[in-house]
Amino acid sequence: MFQISEVLKKVPFFRSLGKDGISFIVERLKFKPFDADEIICKIGDPGDKMWIIISGQVKVIVKPEDSDEETLIAELTSGDYFGEMALLTGAPRSATIVTTEPSEMFILNKTDFDLVVERFPSITLSMGKIMSQRLTETLQKAAKRSEKVTAAVKGLLSERQLVDILKFCESNSLNGKVIVNRGNQTGKIFYQKGILQKVELGDLKDDEALDVLISWNDGEFLIEPDPLRLDERETPAAPEALQPIQLVIVNASMVVQKMLQQTFEKIGYSVYAVENKQKGINLIKKLEPDVVIADVKLPDSNGVEFVQAIREFSQIPIILLTEERNREDYRAKLSSFQEIGYTRSQELGEIMHTVQQMGGR
Ligand code: CMP
Repeated sequence: MFQISEVLKKVPFFRSLGKDGISFIVERLKFKPFDADEIICKIGDPGDKMWIIISGQVKVIVKPEDSDEETLIAELTSGDYFGEMALLTGAPRSATIVTTEPSEMFILNKTDFDLVVERFPSITLSMGKIMSQRLTETLQKAAKRSEKVTAAVKGLLSERQLVDILKFCESNSLNGKVIVNRGNQTGKIFYQKGILQKVELGDLKDDEALDVLISWNDGEFLIEPDPLRLDERETPAAPEALQPIQLVIVNASMVVQKMLQQTFEKIGYSVYAVENKQKGINLIKKLEPDVVIADVKLPDSNGVEFVQAIREFSQIPIILLTEERNREDYRAKLSSFQEIGYTRSQELGEIMHTVQQMGGR
């Protein structure tokens, strides 16, 4: 029988908690063995626990419900943990986790996880960093997957007329081409947003080439969409839509400033941090950012005065870092103002979630 605390000391995530933290957690962990190929959690499900791998291995995959194709995001082994994102952000599971070999895990339920975070808030800092790396990696891999998802569709002209296939391409706003093969002849019909652009068949002109291709009753067709890109938009994006989201942090603590700055810069935000109300107001007037995160205790003001000062010139979303016990008081005092959010100051996951909800364009 192994000593749980000995195992936990080897897990980097727990090491930072020290002896007290480890014993606090040990009492709350449940041990569970898994067979190979067991689904531990599914993408899109709500999250009520996290897992720490003692032995074995899992794969992190993204697999849409309506497809058999899965994308491998990562493999995690002994000492790694997973399932923390849903607990930190309240969002559904970002990926499916499946064991690739018999594995042993510790399970920490959400209620106990919240207790650990309350008692050892620094844990959200290290978890938040890993979470933002994971998020970035998952988004990158999902973007590659969407290139693959644009799979070609093929068939026989004896079963489906080319005219019908071209109508299909138009009604589905195809970006790409239809390739038609008959014997040693190949024709290509190019589309952009469902509008025919050009037709190629030997040296023939577009309209002649199209007439010949439509007359073919045998041969093969292949609809080949261009790869999709995550940043592709329906219409050319306005220049400001390409700008990163701008975030202003107003907080007297350098540690909190740096922590928030690093986290949001990693996921592509432009972040500016200042330490007091006056500098905050000047910066917000100058930058007109997308969202403000402010501590309610500022050296030259408090949260209520700060919000009132901003609302004199801007309706920008403002997120106040408040302790839960003071929140109702702030809500009452600021009830006449719109677009005010509240989160706990140590809860990096909660802060990220609120910013993404209120400030995401
Ligand atoms: P959660 O979203 O709760 O459930 C799925 C889990 O997969 C997620 O938490 C992370 O723990 C894990 N996960 C997601 N993306 C990655 C990644 N890129 N690398 C490692 N683990 C990941």
